[in-house]
Amino acid sequence: MSKIYVFDHPLIQHKVTLIRKKSTGTKEFRALVDEVAGLMAFEITRDLPLEEIEIETPVAKAKANVISGKKLGIVPILRAGLGMVDGFLKLVPAAKVGHVGLYRDPETLKPVEYYVKLPTDVTERDFIVIDPMLATGGSAVEAINSLKNRGAKHIKFMCLIAAPEGVKVLQDAHPDVDIYIAALDEKLNDHGYIIPGLGDAGDRLFGTK
Ligand code: URA
Repeated sequence: MSKIYVFDHPLIQHKVTLIRKKSTGTKEFRALVDEVAGLMAFEITRDLPLEEIEIETPVAKAKANVISGKKLGIVPILRAGLGMVDGFLKLVPAAKVGHVGLYRDPETLKPVEYYVKLPTDVTERDFIVIDPMLATGGSAVEAINSLKNRGAKHIKFMCLIAAPEGVKVLQDAHPDVDIYIAALDEKLNDHGYIIPGLGDAGDRLFGTK
């Protein structure tokens, strides 16, 4: 079974509270999501392997650690996932960025992929799938299916806010994918919104509502 990590760092918690507030406007919302994505990138990359190299400082030769060539890819789920890309890349600028686009089939209500573009070396990369909200879990499961179908082997999932229902769906479908969350909320409402949540993440990021 996959592991769930809820980031309880005070800076993350503080900023998520501001993100949630109805009175937070688009500009501030976007900036805060960007900052939290960076803080989460810091935590989620904690297990990156290091290797020792020889360097020369101005005063002496030394052995020092660098990240040992792990290839990372981040994959935002369109469209709200885009809001977390730049914040992540500020900390990990060499990461490649794939994209997965999904729409909801009006009859089955299931997410269907309409766009997938991944780095060519899929099988060699560790991927982090990004979506601010893990609500029903349908999109996360389908996005990860899209990556696995193309050969991805090591995948993590990162979101700002998750509902317990979505966490369970994702864990059941992909028990090998660890889940990284800034806040685990109470439940979903009848319309699939997370309670208390933050409303529609895409609309709030892009000012479309
Ligand atoms: N997507 C959102 O943007 N918000 C929710 O609460 C649930 C899904």
